[in-house]
This record gives sequence, C-alpha cells and structure tokens, in this order.
Amino acid sequence: ATKAVILVGGESRGTRFRPLSLDLPKPLFDVAGHPILWHCLKAIEKVPSIHEVYLIGYYDESIFFQFLQEASKEFPHLSIKYLREYQALGTAGGLYHFRDNILNGRPERLFVLNSDVCCSFPLNEMLQLAREKDAEAVILGTRVSDDAASNFGCIVSDSHTRRVLHYVEKPESHISNLINCGVYLFSTDTIFPSIRTAIKRRADRSARLLSFRSSDNLESSFMINDDDDAQNGVIRLEQDILGDMADSKQFFVYETKDFWRQIKTAGSAIPANALYLQKAWQNGSKELAEPNLVVKGEKTDNTRPGIHPPVFIHPEAIVHDEAELGPNVSIGPGAKIGPGARISNSIVLAKAEIKPSAHVLHSIIGWGGKVGAWARVEGSPTPVTSHTTSIIKNGVKVQAITILGKECVVGDEVLVKNCVCLPFKELKRVSLSILCT
Ligand code: GDD
Ligand code: GTP
Repeated sequence: ATKAVILVGGESRGTRFRPLSLDLPKPLFDVAGHPILWHCLKAIEKVPSIHEVYLIGYYDESIFFQFLQEASKEFPHLSIKYLREYQALGTAGGLYHFRDNILNGRPERLFVLNSDVCCSFPLNEMLQLAREKDAEAVILGTRVSDDAASNFGCIVSDSHTRRVLHYVEKPESHISNLINCGVYLFSTDTIFPSIRTAIKRRADRSARLLSFRSSDNLESSFMINDDDDAQNGVIRLEQDILGDMADSKQFFVYETKDFWRQIKTAGSAIPANALYLQKAWQNGSKELAEPNLVVKGEKTDNTRPGIHPPVFIHPEAIVHDEAELGPNVSIGPGAKIGPGARISNSIVLAKAEIKPSAHVLHSIIGWGGKVGAWARVEGSPTPVTSHTTSIIKNGVKVQAITILGKECVVGDEVLVKNCVCLPFKELKRVSLSILCT
C-alpha cells in the first residue's frame, strides 16, 4: 500500500498570505471553488493504492475539524486524519515524529505534498517512475526561468536516466532551472532511516558545539542558529535530507510539463485559481458555469448569459443575468453580483457584494466586502511564466493583484488599483499602489 502526507504548516506561517490568512488558515482558502487542500486530496484520490492520508501541521486541532468532516464525505475511500506537531518541527521533523502512525499497516511508499503548491499532481506517473527505476525517492520537478530558480530548491539531474545528481535548497548562485515542486514519493524503508541519520548528525554537531562553547570559543556564536534548530527538533527535508539522497540513494526526478505554481503571497491565489479553473474546464467539470450562447444539447442549471469560461459560481451566490463574468473567476457562497458588473481574473469571496456596473479585474474581494456602483477595483496581469505576483511601478515594487481584506468597502465610482487593504477598511477616494491599513 501507499500513504500520503500533506504538510500544512501552522499559525506562524503564511504571513505572506496576509491579509487573507488573518481570517482563515491558508490551506483552507478557496481557489476555483474549493479549499487549496481539497485540490491535493482530489489528486490523491486518483491513486488506487492510497487509502490513508495525514495532514501534518501545528495548527490547533479545531482548525481542520469541519474540513475533515466534509472531506470524509466527499472522499469516502480515503481515511483523512490531522496529526498535530507540538511545535514547528520542519518539513521532515513532523514525518519523523509521526512515523509510528505512518508505518502502521506497513505501507511500502509514502507521498509527501507541500500544501502550498498548485499543480496537476501527477502522482500516478511518479509512482510508475518509482516502480520502473526501483527508486528510493522520486521528486516532482518543473522548469522555471533562470532568474526565478534560486527561489526554489534546485535539482541537477542526468537527463537520460532522470537520476538526481545534486540538490541544493534555494542556492545563492545558479545551478539549474529544474526546481523542486514540493511533491515527493519516498520508499518507507529509506526515508525514516535517512531522517534518523540527519538527526544523529545534528546531535553530534551540537555536542561538539557544546564542548566548543564551554571552552568559550568565540567562533561558536556563529553556529547558534543551527544549534537552535537542533534543540527544537527541527529537521528539514530540503536542507537536511535531499542533498544526501542525491549523493547516496536511488533518487529520481519526474519532470512535469503541466502547470505548477507556488501559493505564497495572497496575490498568488489568482494564478492558482485560474490554473485550476482552466483544468476543470478542460476536463468538462459539471461544476463550472456554462455560457448559454453555446448550444450544448441539454440545458443545465449552470447555463447562463454573460459567461466567459472558465467561471465557478457557488450555487448559493446570486448573480444578475446582466453581469459579465470571466474568464478565470470564482464567486463564493452568498456573494451578490449586480447588473452590468464586469468581473475577470478574480476571486469574489463569500457574502461579498459587487454593485451594478462595477468592474473587478485581477483582484480578490474579501468575505463580506462591498464594491460600489461604477467603482473599479483592479490589479495588473502577471505573465503566465513569471513566478512572482509583484510588479515594478514607478521604480517601486508593488503587489500586482489588488486584495481587499474581509469586509472592506469601496465607495461608488471609486478607483482602486494595485492595493492591498487590511480588513474593515473603507475606501472613499482613488487609491493607487498603496497598502491600506
Ligand atoms: N507540518 C509542518 N511543520 N509543515 C511545515 C513546517 C513545519 O514545521 N514548515 C513548513 N511546512 C510546510 C508548509 O506549510 C508548506 O506546505 C511546506 O511545508 C513547505 O514550506 P516551506 O518550508 O516554507 O518551504 P518553501 O515553500 O519556501 O519551499 C519549499 O517548496 C518549494 C516549492 O513550493 C521547498 O521544498 C523548495 O525546495 C520548493 O521549491
Ligand atoms: P511566510 O513566509 O510567512 O509567508 O510563510 P511560508 O509558509 O510561506 O514560509 P517561507 O518559506 O516563506 O518561510 C518563511 C521563513 O521561515 C523564511 O525565513 C524561512 O527561512 C523560514 N522557514 C522555512 N522553513 C521553515 C521551517 O521548517 N521552520 C522554521 N521555523 N522556519 C522555516
């Protein structure tokens, strides 16, 4: 059998996802009509040999309670449990801490997914490669531009055998543009001993450091950070494990040609939303709104005028027939969209209201927000190939996507462009490229 772990992080993380993570933990944020985590589960469900999934993180248990209840109904073949770290243990520390749970039932292989990535998760393909190569580890890789590569873990591989020769986490100089997508498949016989070795190496090092310190060696102060990690039990796959695996194990890379994005900043929810919607549209998902100009044979409840696919409209949203939506738009439950409103490449969250003839472009409208009549809330498009959601405007770096936190209000006829607004803010005047606090 195979099991899967999704690393969800905890309270102290996701700061770059503010202001949206002020009200909701990032893994539960809706893109393309479903929580980020749901998209991971949807992919895991397609691997026949997986029956058990663990979310590992250090959020309070209550955070995932409702999500887990709903997910258990929606994914009846999966047993999904949350395992809570007593503190942040790092991307490998949590795996090791819960090794007894994971190894229970003797799974041969273990998938590990970062929760904050958006991709088509080609898990079956990774499994096939692992079988073909009799691999101890397989990492999902993708190509990015040379200047983006150093923000990620970088992989040097043999293009013929696909073997990983070298792995460096966020290198200072360029080594490769094949990067770590944050999705792994490990043999359970390999991963836990590898983590144990890394822990032991740490312990030896801090023992040496202690004796160093007691001899009052000044140099030791340089090593304190590393030592802190060791004392806190923090072990990271990226820094402590993968480099070694490249040196000594049967470690392979599966390179995806399909889409891949990281979900870090709040603005990055916009490309993730677009990519998941496009995929759902290609797959003929019945969840999406259909333009009624197209004759599709049968008329469904989702058929409506003014739709430029792909568009997701929650069944409990109220959208006027004279509103124009899309492409790449998600409308949350209880949201209300007035006549003449024009929305594209945006997310409108639950209970937000877009008044008549307002425009919303490249933006996220927070829960319960209000955009006044004839107002314009705009961001700037980010190129599909870029892995950043900031742009340079008048020599200053600003967020490309406009984000209104929970219950922000934009007055009638007001223009808001490239702004990030904290919750409960009222915007009565033109706002350009500012942080509204
Ligand atoms: N349970 C748990 N405990 N999860 C954690 C912890 C922890 O202590 N720390 C991080 N995570 C989770 C995060 O929530 C996220 O899903 C994932 O682990 C990775 O987060 P980071 O440690 O912040 O790494 P990163 O996102 O900057 O970089 C990683 O992902 C990139 C791809 O998105 C690295 O693996 C890179 O090499 C990779 O390119
Ligand atoms: P934000 O940065 O707050 O949006 O959180 P994030 O979940 O996106 O994590 P990110 O990778 O940006 O890391 C934020 C900071 O935490 C960086 O300075 C990292 O070096 C550091 N960091 C990364 N991984 C870990 C970890 O496992 N434990 C701890 N304590 N810090 C980490």
